[in-house]
Amino acid sequence: MKPVTINTLLKHKQNQEKFSVVAAYDASFAKAIEQAGVEAILIGDSLGMVLQGHDSTIPVSIDDMAYHTACVKRGTRRSLLIADMPFGTYTNSQQALDNAAYLMQSGAHMVKMEGGQWLLESIEALTERSIPVCAHLGLTPQSVNVLGGYKVQGRDEQAAKQLLEDAKAVEAAGASLLVLECIPSALAASISQSLAIPVIGIGAGPDTDAQVLVLHDLLGLGDKLPSFVHNFLADTNSIQTALSAYNEAVKSGKFPTDKHCFD
Ligand code: KIV
Repeated sequence: MKPVTINTLLKHKQNQEKFSVVAAYDASFAKAIEQAGVEAILIGDSLGMVLQGHDSTIPVSIDDMAYHTACVKRGTRRSLLIADMPFGTYTNSQQALDNAAYLMQSGAHMVKMEGGQWLLESIEALTERSIPVCAHLGLTPQSVNVLGGYKVQGRDEQAAKQLLEDAKAVEAAGASLLVLECIPSALAASISQSLAIPVIGIGAGPDTDAQVLVLHDLLGLGDKLPSFVHNFLADTNSIQTALSAYNEAVKSGKFPTDKHCFD
């Protein structure tokens, strides 16, 4: 099997074939996810909540991310690995470069950063120096204290316009992927159509080029699942089958359904 690269994902978009992504943090699950046919693994800073038990992603350190990136790397052979830059580790271009280089040397193929206009200089600096970037817009969990909670973004006309502008700007600055989290489906569809780079949605409706879910969510772990999640383990008694069902549901367009989407 050939390794998945950003060019592979770009071709999927051009051919209108959806691809799937899972946020995961260790070698054993990464191997199972790869075997299920998922193209990319996000070593997300969501690990601060699902592994470390914090109530936000803010306490996660760059060393935590490097450790889990190296664990995932050891479990995979062909997956594209995207590592999250945690809170406070990319406040200027030089800091972003130093920390992104650390994650790349730990096994990542690209890094993800949350933010719009203020991030453009860092996106340019990283991509110019051979570090591919996945941007993240909409509900950006590292900004939870500014947003006043984990709320759907881009619902009013001005916010929707700003999101579309930010999406075009991060693409122009050099980002090769974009994650859109918790925004109205129609807005996510219009952003995905406006960009040449692949757009990965979570709580962003059925019309993005790909979907991502946190591993623990798609296996139904946790007291209360977010409304945009389906528990794929509820339909089977095997984790491997649940992962394959998620991959198949994303690719066939069966997930997400209306009940997982926002207006
Ligand atoms: O940290 C993470 O897992 C993420 C996804 C929810 C997109 O950023």
